[in-house]
Amino acid sequence: MGINTNTWNKLRYTLYLPVYDLVAGRVFAKYRKRSVSLLQAKPDAAILLVGAGTGLDLEFLKGYTHLTATDITPGMISTLKARAGKLQLPVKALVMDGQQLAFPDNSFDAVLLHLIIAVIPDPVACIKEVERVLKPGGTVMVFDKFLPDGQHPSLLRKLLNQVAATLFSDINRSIGAIVSHTSLQIELNEPAALGGTFRIVRLRKPLLP
Ligand SMILES: C[S@@+](CC[C@H](N)C(=O)[O-])C[C@H]1O[C@@H](n2cnc3c(N)ncnc32)[C@H](O)[C@@H]1O
Repeated sequence: MGINTNTWNKLRYTLYLPVYDLVAGRVFAKYRKRSVSLLQAKPDAAILLVGAGTGLDLEFLKGYTHLTATDITPGMISTLKARAGKLQLPVKALVMDGQQLAFPDNSFDAVLLHLIIAVIPDPVACIKEVERVLKPGGTVMVFDKFLPDGQHPSLLRKLLNQVAATLFSDINRSIGAIVSHTSLQIELNEPAALGGTFRIVRLRKPLLP
């Protein structure tokens, strides 16, 4: 985990805040839209965004009436609230650690994990929490960059990752390995940005335990 801690993330994302939308806005917009379109959720579905940042996904969530957005960085949540106001979207926005969600079991129909699994210090803790708060049959949409399942990073890549994980996001995480700690099923895994380095993945919680 190294320096990738909640304290470090809060600090660096507070610093990145003024330029965050320039870097992660337009360039990822079509993938955000695509991911939301695959949610398979009704307009009144309870939808949770973990590590929601400045709320760049919100414009694609117009029409949904039960949105909850969480992030560990208070400045991100303030910016997200302002965006929700401008879009006239009802969003409950809360500062919260994605590794310890303060919600009851089985409370959401769908969860969005956009650009958070490769950033959060402990992605397995996060996905287990998502599994817990998701209703049986519910869906999770993941949009992030992953190492292909079964591929082992080279020494050079491991070294580069020390910098990448500290300043941007981890480049050596595999979605299959992370999800394998849960009962969630990978239903879809399609290439997105950067020639498929970024993926859009749909997970579903089984109806029966
Ligand atoms: C790359 S940004 C992604 C933001 C947004 N989901 C998007 O798609 O633009 C990563 C976000 O994760 C948040 N974050 C980092 N660690 C977290 C944690 N433990 N729990 C919740 N959010 C966290 C950061 O504050 C930051 O807003």
